[in-house]
Amino acid sequence: MIKTSIKNERLLTHKTDCLVLFSTEEKNPSGKLAELDTKLKGIIKLLFKNKRFEGKLNQTLLLNTTKPMRADHLLLVGLGKGNEVTADKLRQATGTAAKYAEKAKLTTISFYIPADNDAKDIHTGLAKSNESFTQTIVEGGLLSLHHFDEYKQPAKEKLSRIKQIVLITTVKSQVSSMRFSSSKGQKLAKAVVATRDLVSQPSNTATPSYLAEKAQEFAKPFGMTCKVLKASDMKRLEMGALLGVAKGSEEPPAFIILEHHGGIKNDPPVVIVGKGITFDTGGISLKPPANMDEMKMDMSGGAVTLGTLSAAAALKIPLNIVGLVPASENMPSGNAIKPGDILKSMSGKTIEVLNTDAEGRLILADALTYAARYKPKAIINLATLTGAVIVALGHQAAAVLGNNDELATSLQECGEVTGERLWPLPIWPEHEKAVKGDIADLKNIASPGIGAGTITAGAFLKSFAGDFPWCHLDIAGTSWSSEDKPYTPKGATGFGVRLLTRFLEQVAKNTQSY
Ligand code: BES
Ligand code: MN
Ligand code: ZN
Repeated sequence: MIKTSIKNERLLTHKTDCLVLFSTEEKNPSGKLAELDTKLKGIIKLLFKNKRFEGKLNQTLLLNTTKPMRADHLLLVGLGKGNEVTADKLRQATGTAAKYAEKAKLTTISFYIPADNDAKDIHTGLAKSNESFTQTIVEGGLLSLHHFDEYKQPAKEKLSRIKQIVLITTVKSQVSSMRFSSSKGQKLAKAVVATRDLVSQPSNTATPSYLAEKAQEFAKPFGMTCKVLKASDMKRLEMGALLGVAKGSEEPPAFIILEHHGGIKNDPPVVIVGKGITFDTGGISLKPPANMDEMKMDMSGGAVTLGTLSAAAALKIPLNIVGLVPASENMPSGNAIKPGDILKSMSGKTIEVLNTDAEGRLILADALTYAARYKPKAIINLATLTGAVIVALGHQAAAVLGNNDELATSLQECGEVTGERLWPLPIWPEHEKAVKGDIADLKNIASPGIGAGTITAGAFLKSFAGDFPWCHLDIAGTSWSSEDKPYTPKGATGFGVRLLTRFLEQVAKNTQSY
């Protein structure tokens, strides 16, 4: 575990392996960097002059230092154009710096946190988003340095990893607010990392029962309640859609219910629902073999739900919040549902299963019906639901669809700040018509000519969300990254945890308009 600490010290006398200083795109060093440069006989100014360093976003330059500085190295990191700095760019630059230092085998890394009235450009960008510099740095550092390596033999490289992040301020009065922000950043990063680890686990470990166990673990330290419904409970509740998907698997399904009672008694909760398919083979409508291994991530929505609830509880958000995760495998077998089979969902609506690979919407149908029991303030579901969302938005954004534009806009705004982008798609009456069944109430896929796969999936879900304000986030393109990004290593991203936690904080503060 990486240690985080705060020190009130001068930059020159601070002893560390690596002191990181941010710079916006400039012709000359400015602010604290310029001040330090005069002590370093103008060497940094020369680097700017020779264009060795220009402050471009995520640009890095590592310098060995000597007296009078007590830091062994100085790492300059660019933030890009001064008037375009955002919280997410700062988070990225931090991640870039942290990983760079780790590669250089430096084990303690110190970030200079400017005084509130310094580095005006950086602060204007952050002020707009109301994000704290400290929190952003802690998030960027911890998220970028996370490795999922429990299946690897202990390697030498583990020894040279960063052990400590130090936050330096020269302003004593700033220390206590920095403590608060740092602790918040640590709690968020911990929840994201736990979410990523869940998603990274292969499906022979991460079964529905394993997810349920993890949910219990997540609940414990914060006094959340966790209840897990078994197949027999699902039968009693007539969750025919979830049971239909689970039928083909030897692994028993689970329906996880996590509750954080942070608000006043009987205040309606926000319900978060996450798709928990621990492996999606497609079922009888079997998927082709290429990249099928990635379908272990089909429980990302569920993992994000658990991660968000644990973050919300750790931060003691004064709001009632419920997390629901319908969990199952989607397997082909002699017991599996077949194309054309009709399932009766918990809502009473019947569904023609025309393609067993459109299983996510089936298990979510019953979970959304269950959510209505809470008479929620809002329902937000997350699911790696369609490959079509990758066609529409690539890996840069998740799609947001729903029945309430204000809710969608609030979520989108949160995502801008946290660097988890959402982009809206409509659900029009034609799309709802496209999933009306021929011999049952609904069918789980629209006819081939209709197109708009992400939207028709959303239209299907809409008929189970009732009249509650509801949004669906299709995270199929954003849950898994095939490349390293500044603070997101290749693999599971944990996309959604910070976004939803921010959203829940805002609902608790009553700044939501929906
Ligand atoms: N889990 C998949 C969607 C998915 C695709 C997630 C790529 C992550 C990356 C989902 O269950 C699925 O199979 N959807 C089908 C729906 C189709 C049969 C209508 C799809 O997108 O092909
Ligand atoms: Mn599928
Ligand atoms: Zn799936």
